[in-house]
Amino acid sequence: MSETGEALGAGPETDDLRSAIDALAPWFHNLELRGVRTAPDHFLGDYPAFKWRRFAEALPADLSGRTVLDIGCNAGFYALEMKRRGAARVVGIDPDPRYLAQARLAARVTGLDIELRQLSVYDVGALAERFDIVLFMGVLYHLRHPLLALDLIREHVAGDLLVFQSMQRGSMMRAQLPPDHDFKQAAHFALPGYPKLHFIEERYAGDPTNWWVPNRACVEAMLRSSGFAILGQPEAEVYLCRCAGPPAGEGAVYPPRPSFSTGEEPA
Ligand SMILES: C[S@@+](CC[C@H](N)C(=O)[O-])C[C@H]1O[C@@H](n2cnc3c(N)ncnc32)[C@H](O)[C@@H]1O
Repeated sequence: MSETGEALGAGPETDDLRSAIDALAPWFHNLELRGVRTAPDHFLGDYPAFKWRRFAEALPADLSGRTVLDIGCNAGFYALEMKRRGAARVVGIDPDPRYLAQARLAARVTGLDIELRQLSVYDVGALAERFDIVLFMGVLYHLRHPLLALDLIREHVAGDLLVFQSMQRGSMMRAQLPPDHDFKQAAHFALPGYPKLHFIEERYAGDPTNWWVPNRACVEAMLRSSGFAILGQPEAEVYLCRCAGPPAGEGAVYPPRPSFSTGEEPA
């Protein structure tokens, strides 16, 4: 079901705004809604505003005529920023209805018209549309199937620019690797800069939805493998990418097996 910012009226009276915000707590995005903060005690500080300030200039200041998809939009911080830059259409998707309710309130109070849909990244094919800009920020490590998600984004919704962000842990190095190694070679797997995706069996930072945390080399290898060319890294965890070739896994089939001769010719 598609939900827009409704009538875009002023939203609750200021006196009631605090209680409307509190009723939708807890908030992950610390938005400022008519002077009222949604998450003033956020464990990361003024999040994600402080992060946004570090890479905001890397995105076009004028998004007139552009379409934007924000995957895992949460309370809509980035979707609202894209609309503030004049994007013709901004669609925010998130599987969590509580976050979508927050985004709906934020859209009403700010008067910014964003479309909100309850949808998982695994279902982006249902949108049946490519977007000029796709934001995929802070979601990868919450997924049990992160590479599948990137492949689906590339296959179904990425039109031009992908803005990607992930938590990273482990080495920040990038090993220079040849495209292949002999079966008996294994030392490269232990290189700090080898792409590594750390599996979290139980929880990390108390959060049972953290599943796979990549190191830097792994983030970059996964993006390339899913068919994205990395244009830049304006912030330590943020990448700007363009669609490049098809995902390495597209139409994946095992290569033909080498034929082993038994010495007997088929009849
Ligand atoms: C850490 S927050 C990031 C929010 C926002 N994108 C940002 O960068 O500030 C993770 C968000 O991903 C959403 N999410 C979790 N699983 C998802 C999935 N399968 N598809 C899309 N979003 C998902 C969560 O509901 C949450 O809103």
